[in-house]
This record gives sequence, C-alpha cells and structure tokens, in this order.
Amino acid sequence: MSAIDYAEKIPNNVDLVGDRTLQRALEHWQPQFLQWWHEMGPSDFEGADVYLRTATSVDAQGWAHYGKVRMPDYRWGIFLADPVAERKIGFGDAMGQPAWQQVPGEYRSTLRRLIVTQGDTEPASVEQQRLLGHTCPSLYDLRNLFQINVEEGRHLWAMVYLLHAYFGRDGREEAEELLARHSGDADKPRILTTFNEPISDWLSLYCFTYFTDRDGKYQLKSLAESAFDPLARTCRFMLTEEAHHMFVGETGLSRVVKRSLEAMKELGSDDPARIRAAGAVDLPLLQKYLNFWCSSSLDLFGSEISSNSAANFANGLKARPDEGRYEDHALREKTLSLVTPQGASDVPMLNALNEVMRESYLKDCEIGLKRWNRSIERAGSQLRLSLPSARFRRSIGAWAGQPVDPQGNLMQRELYEKSLASWIPSEADKAFVHSLMHRVIEPGRMAGWIAPPERGINNLPLEHEYVKLH
Ligand SMILES: [Fe+2]
Ligand SMILES: [Fe+2]
Repeated sequence: MSAIDYAEKIPNNVDLVGDRTLQRALEHWQPQFLQWWHEMGPSDFEGADVYLRTATSVDAQGWAHYGKVRMPDYRWGIFLADPVAERKIGFGDAMGQPAWQQVPGEYRSTLRRLIVTQGDTEPASVEQQRLLGHTCPSLYDLRNLFQINVEEGRHLWAMVYLLHAYFGRDGREEAEELLARHSGDADKPRILTTFNEPISDWLSLYCFTYFTDRDGKYQLKSLAESAFDPLARTCRFMLTEEAHHMFVGETGLSRVVKRSLEAMKELGSDDPARIRAAGAVDLPLLQKYLNFWCSSSLDLFGSEISSNSAANFANGLKARPDEGRYEDHALREKTLSLVTPQGASDVPMLNALNEVMRESYLKDCEIGLKRWNRSIERAGSQLRLSLPSARFRRSIGAWAGQPVDPQGNLMQRELYEKSLASWIPSEADKAFVHSLMHRVIEPGRMAGWIAPPERGINNLPLEHEYVKLH
C-alpha cells in the first residue's frame, strides 16, 4: 500500500488510475500548478540541478530518495500515510465511532474551509521565499531552501487532492483559487497575515521556518487526528516532510548564534555596533527578529476564546495536537483559567482550545531557545535570548492591539509606540541585515554572518556541490 506509483503522470499511492474522473480533473490542474511554479516559484533557478529528496514510500523507514533534480521536474504527487485498520474517532462527541471515509454533509463547508486555509499557506510560503536564492549564504543552504519549496508545493498537492476528491465542483474551484491568491498581493492576498509578510533575507527565513513552519506542524498534528480519515492520513505524511523545514530553522538560527559568539570572542566585546562592523548579527538584533516572527506566528492560532474551535473539536474535525496524550477527550466538564486585559476568568476548556494549542506550541519553541542560551552561557556571555510574551504585538484575540511589552506587561500607549523599534527590527536593522546578504556559491564556503552546519546532507561532505548552477 505504501509504495508510490511513479509510472503515472501524477505520482500517487491512492490508486488514482482507479478513478478516471478524479485523475482527469487533477491532470487538468497539474499544468496550472506548473505554470504557477514557473511564475511564482524560486526565481531564476529552473535550470539548476538540485540535490533533492523525493518520497518513494510513506512508511517511517527509508521513504526518501536523494538525487539531482531540476525543480520543474520534481515529481509532485499525492501521498497519504497508510490507513489504520478500523480507525475510530479519538475525541469529541462522536468518540469511539468509526472514522469517516467521506465528508458528512453537515460538516462539508467547515472541513472545506479548514483544508483551504491549510492549503493556502503552502504556496504562499513558496511565493514569500522566491527571491532568496539570489542571496544564499552557501550551496548547502540554497539546496535546503529549494527542498522546502518543492515540499510546500507537494503540500499544496496534498490539500488539492482532498478538495478534488471529496468536495466536487466547489473543491475544484477552491483548488484554482489556491493558485490565484498571491502572497502580499493587494487585491488577492493569501488568507493569513503571516503569509503575506515578505521574507526578503535569510535571517527572516530561518525565523519563519523556526516559528511559522512550526505553527504548520501544530496545525497538521491537530488535523492528523481528524475523524475525516483521508485528511488525517494526508496530514500524517505531511508531518514527516515538515520536520525538515523546522530543522532548517533551528540549525540556521543556531549557526547565526554561533557566528555571533565567535565575533564576540574575536573582538573581546559584545558591543552590537562592533559586531555588526565585523559582519555578524549581534544577539540583540536576533532577539528582534525572534520577537517579530514569534508574535506574528502566534496569531495563526486564532482567538483565545473561540466557538469555532469548540465546535470543530466537539464534532471531531480538529483535535488538540497529540490528542492521545490527554486523558479527557470530550472536554465537556473542564475549564481553563485565562488572563485577558479585563482580568482573570475561567472559560470552558472547549472554547479555549486555540490557547491550549498555542501553549503547547510555545513549549516546543522554547527547546531551541534553551539550546542557544546554553551555548551563549558556555561562551561566557551574560546575554540571553527569549521568546516574547504571547500578549506582545498581537493582532488577534483578547490582547489584539494592546500596548504590551515583550515581557507581557501592559504599558502606556505612547511609550509603547516609541519603544516598538527597539523590540522588533527597525528599518535600519533590516537595512543592515540586507547588507549582509550576498550570495556565496563556491562549494563548501559560507557567508561571513553564519557558521557552517555540523554536517552535510545525507552523509555527503559539506563541500558537495548541492546545487549545480548553469
Ligand atoms: Fe507545508
Ligand atoms: Fe513547511
């Protein structure tokens, strides 16, 4: 079952040949996707041979094949994790009943919305990152960028398959719209704000893959529990691909920290001006980027109190990430204590699931911070990096628009406005980061602002020519 058929025009493990109508519909969408990739994908690298991994089976062991591929020739396809025999719904009011193989009529529009919202983020991030290849800090990083890009394209396929296979004509129209909206477009922007933010430098890319792809991980984890079995299986396989994106973020930021510490040591100083003059990123500057991308990504979880998330849980559409770890899967009795600008109150747990998800996400975000702070401590510096408070710079929920500092304290609005440039990247900060962005393409070499990674890809040496440019 888990073998992927690459003989077909659209590689898949869902027996696409057995459903001619669906196959034809997807084959009609395929050239539109390729055209979108050509216009909105990584600019100017269509002729490059890239050392990419491609899924060959969906089981945990050895699902990937590595080899040189031109990106337009990447085999985007439809891969679902293997079915679990007689899978039962694991949460909500229908807990214990068989999982659904079709979409129940009453949840049709909600499920379609969930799939479209997830699907929209995938091509959005490719669009956001499309110019970064021109300023890559190394061929190793360039290859990782392209690996992420082709996989986000694959994730779009994953959602489009569900739309085509289970939502009829509405689904096909939504699939076209996924290619018609564009990141940052004034008339037809992407659905979620974070996916309209430009990613014009590699520091932002590492923050995006650390924070925003991790939001993706949590969304996928909660959809992987869904009673709608094809969605659950799709998301389970997407999660295996997603792990690499966060790896790029975490190791990328580790390498920036490492280089910063080296510069501090060389200079015998942690004066940001001197570190910048030496061509490295000072830690206070990195903190600003963390503040920006973390706070932006926190909005993606939605309002603290949400009747939609309550209904989605009760109806079996979307659970908590790692639902199996909890004991109570109905949540009809539980409450959560929430602090809003109006004070503390207990709210029904069912209505507070966005917050539950945000809290587990933040715990996951802390892991990298702890590691970076250990290396900073070992280097003998008093500086520490931290995550901003979940109340800081929020645009959605109880704290939206509130003047709160990164520690979470409410403050005078005027002072807040004045201080903001010291908490998130100012124009001068961005200009400095952009000034570091020069492309380095000699195999094995690194830009001066980032340390080399600990190892190459798939056991190859760091000096390997991961992207062959023509
Ligand atoms: Fe993705
Ligand atoms: Fe991703």
